[in-house]
Amino acid sequence: MSQPDYEALVRAAIAARERAYAPYSRFSVGAAAQSASGAVYPGCNIENAAYGPSICAERVALGSAYAAGERRIAALAVVTPTDGPASPCGICRQVIAELAPDAVVVLANLRGERRITTPQELLPFGFGPAQLEESGGR
Ligand code: THU
Repeated sequence: MSQPDYEALVRAAIAARERAYAPYSRFSVGAAAQSASGAVYPGCNIENAAYGPSICAERVALGSAYAAGERRIAALAVVTPTDGPASPCGICRQVIAELAPDAVVVLANLRGERRITTPQELLPFGFGPAQLEESGGR
């Protein structure tokens, strides 16, 4: 079987990046989550003058997919304006692990470089719903 082509999803993330609201860092990030049914949900980073409430592009894309009722995310593309493809922050790794555990994660920059990874590679030995279930309420 041939490798799926993630370039259309990367293009959606590049388009989403144009809509970033990043007046403080001036570091615009775009993301695009594709559900198992094929629908694409864009995300961009949205900052805040209080800094703390700022949200990353990955979480906006995944939140948008979930808000539309999606639960199975097949792929997530992230585009950063970096020398090489950048890796998601720790909070996003935690969220990706829970909301898109089976996704192919495509990290891209604007120079055509791509790095394909997985939620497990991004967050090995992570905390998740299984640990809460194991506690049995103790
Ligand atoms: N940012 C993302 O949106 N995704 C990443 O993977 C890395 C960082 C945002 C957060 C903040 O708005 C800006 O980039 C600089 O950290």
